Amino acid sequence: MNIIFYFTGTGNSLKAAREIAAALGDTKLAGVSDSFGMDLSGYERIGFVYPIYFGGVPLIVKEFVQSLKIPEVAYLFAVATYGGGEWNGLKELNALLKAKGRGLDYGTVLQMGSNYIFLYDKPENADDVNTAAVKKLAVIGAAIRDKENLPCGKMNPLMSLPAWRFKRGVRKTALKYDVSDNCSACGLCAKICPVRNIEIKERTPVFGGHCERCMACLQWCPQRAVNYRGKTEPRERYHHPDVRAKDLARDGGQNEK
Ligand SMILES: Cc1cc2nc3c(=O)[nH]c(=O)nc-3n(C[C@H](O)[C@H](O)[C@H](O)COP(=O)(O)O)c2cc1C
Repeated sequence: MNIIFYFTGTGNSLKAAREIAAALGDTKLAGVSDSFGMDLSGYERIGFVYPIYFGGVPLIVKEFVQSLKIPEVAYLFAVATYGGGEWNGLKELNALLKAKGRGLDYGTVLQMGSNYIFLYDKPENADDVNTAAVKKLAVIGAAIRDKENLPCGKMNPLMSLPAWRFKRGVRKTALKYDVSDNCSACGLCAKICPVRNIEIKERTPVFGGHCERCMACLQWCPQRAVNYRGKTEPRERYHHPDVRAKDLARDGGQNEK
């Protein structure tokens, strides 16, 4: 059996993980938040699929990898999804794995629709990019099935320097979110937050201080009631078209009845 650990806010990485799982067969999907320290013995292939944040690995993915004991024999692979600039997004994961014993057997980046609504609207090319990504995933899935080797090179620490500015305070991001009167207290944001940083109290979402800035609450809110500092209100929301909010559950919707 194989396992793919995924982290996702807007479904791109889950879509990628699902396509690879379908190509492999006999593959379990597991959200990183609920898989810390998991026993990995017995898995033939172990994969990591996640979005690139600030040219690197999301903090929770970094901490997750650090919590693992990497088996000596399994085939290790990763796909890092990104919007426009991959920088060290894959290489950082490789370095983290190496620090745990050994690096990736196969690693690649994959451009998908960009979801960073703090800076821009839903990109016009999102559908085209996602269509191209599915084609690339067929090739990636076959390569992983055949246990091909694809080294991903060394991290360039200079490229990570600008990211420090952005990474600082990430976990407090949601404390700066506004919730408008449009909120219907449906609770979707709390259900889909991959790090359970949201509680509904007195019919209002209340945000905690361990946000990953994944954008799930903001992008999936059916009322567009969650916003960031007066910037995001007019911007079109994005999520991967083949993924539904309920699929974000911690098993990628795999065991859904
Ligand atoms: C906090 C944050 C930082 C991001 N930083 C980058 C980046 O450095 N380079 C890039 O190309 N895309 C960046 N993106 C875009 C995402 O990597 C991209 O849209 C990804 O496919 C989203 O995956 P998901 O739908 O699985 O969450 C960023 C998005 C977020 C939310």
